[in-house]
Amino acid sequence: MAARDAQPKAIHLKDYRVPDFLIEHTHLDVVLNDEWTRVTSTLKLRRNPESERQDTSLVLDGAELRLVSVAIDGKPLSESDYRVDAESLTIADVPPAFELQVVTDIQPQKNTSLDGLYRSRGLYCTQCEAEGFRKITYYLDRPDVMSEFVTRIEANKDTHPVLLSNGNLIDGGDLAGDRHFAVWQDPHKKPCYLFAMVAGQLSHIEDKFVTTSGREVTLKIFVEPKDLDKCDHAMDSLKRAMRWDEEVYGREYDLDIFMIVAVDDFNMGAMENKGLNIFNTSCILAKPETTTDAGFQRVEAVVAHEYFHNWSGNRVTCRDWFQLSLKEGFTVFRDAEFSSDMGSRTVKRVEDVSMLRTAQFAEDGGPMAHPIRPDAYIEISNFYTLTIYEKGAEVVRMIANLLGPELFRKGSDLYFERHDGQAVTTDDFVAAMADASGRDLTQFKHWYSQAGTPVLTVTDQYDADAQEYTLEIAQYCPPTPECKHKKPFHIPVAVGLLGSAGNLPLQLKGETPNTETPDNTHTVLELTEAKQRFTFTGVKEKPVPALLRGFSAPVKLRYPYTRDDLMRLMSADDDGFVRWDASQQLATLVIGDAIKAYQGGEDLGQWPLDEQLAVACEQLLGDSSLDPAMVALMLALPSEGYLAEQAEVVDVHAIHAARNAVRRALGKRLAQPLRAIYSAYDHSKPYEANAEAIAQRTLKNLALGYLMIDPDAAQLDACEQQLRDSNNMTDTLAALTALVNCRAHDAEDRKRDALEAFYQQWQDEPLVVNDWFRVQSVSPLPGGLERVHALLKHPAYDPKNPNKIRSVVAAFTNGNPVNFHQKDGAGYTFLADEVLRLNKQNPQIAARLLTPLTKWRRYLPEQQALMKAALERILAEPELSKDVYEVVSKSLA
Ligand code: TRP
Ligand code: ZN
Repeated sequence: MAARDAQPKAIHLKDYRVPDFLIEHTHLDVVLNDEWTRVTSTLKLRRNPESERQDTSLVLDGAELRLVSVAIDGKPLSESDYRVDAESLTIADVPPAFELQVVTDIQPQKNTSLDGLYRSRGLYCTQCEAEGFRKITYYLDRPDVMSEFVTRIEANKDTHPVLLSNGNLIDGGDLAGDRHFAVWQDPHKKPCYLFAMVAGQLSHIEDKFVTTSGREVTLKIFVEPKDLDKCDHAMDSLKRAMRWDEEVYGREYDLDIFMIVAVDDFNMGAMENKGLNIFNTSCILAKPETTTDAGFQRVEAVVAHEYFHNWSGNRVTCRDWFQLSLKEGFTVFRDAEFSSDMGSRTVKRVEDVSMLRTAQFAEDGGPMAHPIRPDAYIEISNFYTLTIYEKGAEVVRMIANLLGPELFRKGSDLYFERHDGQAVTTDDFVAAMADASGRDLTQFKHWYSQAGTPVLTVTDQYDADAQEYTLEIAQYCPPTPECKHKKPFHIPVAVGLLGSAGNLPLQLKGETPNTETPDNTHTVLELTEAKQRFTFTGVKEKPVPALLRGFSAPVKLRYPYTRDDLMRLMSADDDGFVRWDASQQLATLVIGDAIKAYQGGEDLGQWPLDEQLAVACEQLLGDSSLDPAMVALMLALPSEGYLAEQAEVVDVHAIHAARNAVRRALGKRLAQPLRAIYSAYDHSKPYEANAEAIAQRTLKNLALGYLMIDPDAAQLDACEQQLRDSNNMTDTLAALTALVNCRAHDAEDRKRDALEAFYQQWQDEPLVVNDWFRVQSVSPLPGGLERVHALLKHPAYDPKNPNKIRSVVAAFTNGNPVNFHQKDGAGYTFLADEVLRLNKQNPQIAARLLTPLTKWRRYLPEQQALMKAALERILAEPELSKDVYEVVSKSLA
């Protein structure tokens, strides 16, 4: 904890120095006991010949440790030989090479931060990224110190029969007094953030995978015995991911065993520890009865993500934490491509872009904005952000698109080959891509060093006589905390031109005609200057430009599309992303009219539906050639979060009222085709989790949502029937959500009964209970804060479990804007109270919860004042964690 008068200091990238010491070998002996766990660490250390400082003291990182003894080369040190403070152990006099033995005691059972070694429902497990290892023993806790690890674990055999760590099991057996031990050796050098150990009562499923070169790998997934029936999907996903990485990147697995352990208390989704991934149960467990389609897809994506880290993160790791996006951006790109190959590419792209434009753009425009390679941080845990992950992935995607598939693969081969076993930087990654392709990526690197979302303003001109069409594109990036005046970015803008009978062939003026594919209707314009013009020749009619196809760059686009333009793009452009985006832009314009009317004091009760939007939606529903998943995505109105991000000043209540008015009118107008879709669906067919089945369910449940806005008794019955008869959690939750959120005045009893019955049925499945909490926490009906307070008192709520906190507190503050922003500020007070409660208990979660308050400058003046006051109350707290201090102080700066 940082005392208020000793404010925590920022760490800067420019201060990076190579480590003064290297650790060649690490032997850990961990003796687990109920009261004190003893860790004996034996390190083979030597001075780093590359360090300029050959006479410095040895300074090891450590936190919350009770030091028992220190010895060098077998000789115990006396207290005057070393110095201990809250963050380090310093030994002044050390030889050039030596063996250091440090004994410390720790109390994992009291560790509520879920960082370091802790207990989750009796199970011992670790989370060391980014800086948790220092809470296990004194160490050089930095990713550029890589060591071979041998880990001996000792525990009670009855309570902790399974003992796991990285690498291969090399020894084990029984000891006196119900005790036993296991010894694991990891042949691959690794930084300590990839260390893991687990001890507990676990069951597992087992499978095997034979790599292309013939290595047989044992695969094991460990879970609590009650969850053994929910592991098959994760195992299948793992095998698909292993095959995909061989086929697409030429990367094989490199140990004889790969293990996954699922734990219930976990700060994030999962962790890529070498050979021993540790997962939040929410990202492993899946079966149709308990898990939604989105849940199945999440398991597949996260299993793949962590597996892919074995190369992009573990074999080639980060030099320092400023390089975090080196592994995270690249790995998110890899898992997104994997998911695209497993399911629908366009749907995956639309989902990712939606999230990016709603949440990452907001981050990039707020007080926590940072480049994907930040220059400074106070607490690195605060930088596991949408910017590092999702924007980082967009930047890798741009490189992949600029290079094309062959050269990108050549670049990734070179990167892995050149840097295998090293800890490197994002510059090294870009250099490998540039060297392999011969492309100059110097200007492109501004994407790594400059924060903020560039805005592209596009104007066009059509010269009918010359048959020339000119696009003028200007780029501008607003200032962010680290930089006021941005250098122009290198931006790939994928475009097409839509004519009356489809996409037109493209010929850029001054470029030699493409004779191989003369009907080419797609091209990528590369923007490198503040303003550029691109002229197409042989354009026989005035086209509608299809801009930023596939969302070719993470930018905002300004082009004055008319509603007619948008309707044409929606129905006729070749690019699925552009078609979807046009539907969202059209809806945004229509909702924008309703927002203005609401702000002008109009009653939106009878708001007339925009005819063009209605017709566009009718066409979508009438076109059976379309992918039902795309129809569902295009019929779903932009979220309140996205609409807020579009607004100059966010008027939460106007956005909510306007979106609702349009949604209700659309539901009425489309009732007939929606009912047809709903009744055509066969609810008795067995559940399948493939893309086609998911698409049909999505569209059918979207129809249900619209039909349940103002349901009559028959409609309520139909919804209840789906709830009762459903053979899968997707349909069950869709029905429950539709029922809970409907505005029928006589449905209160039905709602209460449905929620109660659901809880009774699923109370022994914590992940399902989380969904039950979430449905209620995000319900936009009035009284949301009171409902949340009641949920916090529910016996199934656990104020220490991050998944529970996420499904009630975070779900409410992020996913229920109209209730969180209730006008008296009570929502803000509630969030500030929760942050202060969690500040000491779990600082990482506390800081993460703060996100909605950090956006305070975006709201109406009255709300700004109340949000700011909540932040100021937090800042006034005397013992703020670094995590919370950094977010609050930057938000108020
Ligand atoms: N590296 C993990 C990933 O795959 C992220 C992660 C898991 C993490 N647990 C954490 C980061 C705890 C910080 C703290 O994305
Ligand atoms: Zn990751």
